[in-house]
Amino acid sequence: MTPVTTTVPFMSGDLAATRAFFGPRAAGWEIKFPDDGPRYRQAVADLAPPAGGAVADVACGTGRALPELRDAVGPNGTVLGIDVTAEMLAEAVACGRDEIATLVLADATRLPLPTGRLDAVFAAGLLAHLADPDAGLAELARVCRPGGRLAVFHPIGRAALARRHGHELSTEDLRAEPNIRAALGRTGWHCDSVDDGEDRYLVLATRELPHA
Ligand SMILES: C[S@@+](CC[C@H](N)C(=O)[O-])C[C@H]1O[C@@H](n2cnc3c(N)ncnc32)[C@H](O)[C@@H]1O
Repeated sequence: MTPVTTTVPFMSGDLAATRAFFGPRAAGWEIKFPDDGPRYRQAVADLAPPAGGAVADVACGTGRALPELRDAVGPNGTVLGIDVTAEMLAEAVACGRDEIATLVLADATRLPLPTGRLDAVFAAGLLAHLADPDAGLAELARVCRPGGRLAVFHPIGRAALARRHGHELSTEDLRAEPNIRAALGRTGWHCDSVDDGEDRYLVLATRELPHA
């Protein structure tokens, strides 16, 4: 299988900075977080992509969620792993994830997918890296069919993450419940649930039907 499809014709300063940050971290990414597997498994189970459906992990990194997404949609489903950092996708290939998913080098805010193509979108650790998170959420909505589902995930809750980094929790944080609910509402999603516990951050949303 061709490992990576290049679809980023040029890189903005923001994307170049993202790649400069994550590129050198790609090789050690999964060694750094060895115990997260069950949390990804549960998050994918909660997203519940349909058997035989099409799902994308947008900002897939090394593809930690791809085996779970493949298990969920089964052999007849479609699994895409999309990321803007080539080194992350190269690491995904080294982990054999190109055998279970199509890996695509692309920007989450300009996805090379037709409107309404996907049944579900998984996005772990993406929003904090977008200069315009609303544009990203709107693009995820564009590529998802009405009634399709979104999981915004992080394998640690906001409070625990803030402690790890020695920060205070901020009410300005996009991922704070009122903020993420509002952002989803204005970008084509209905927010179904927000779980911001110690062990995970998981927001589930449904692509809204077009207004009559
Ligand atoms: C914190 S890592 C998470 C990786 C993976 N989802 C995981 O859970 O291990 C963030 C990832 O987002 C990717 N990323 C950041 N901005 C992006 C964008 N605009 N489009 C696509 N990927 C992006 C980075 O390259 C990086 O791989």
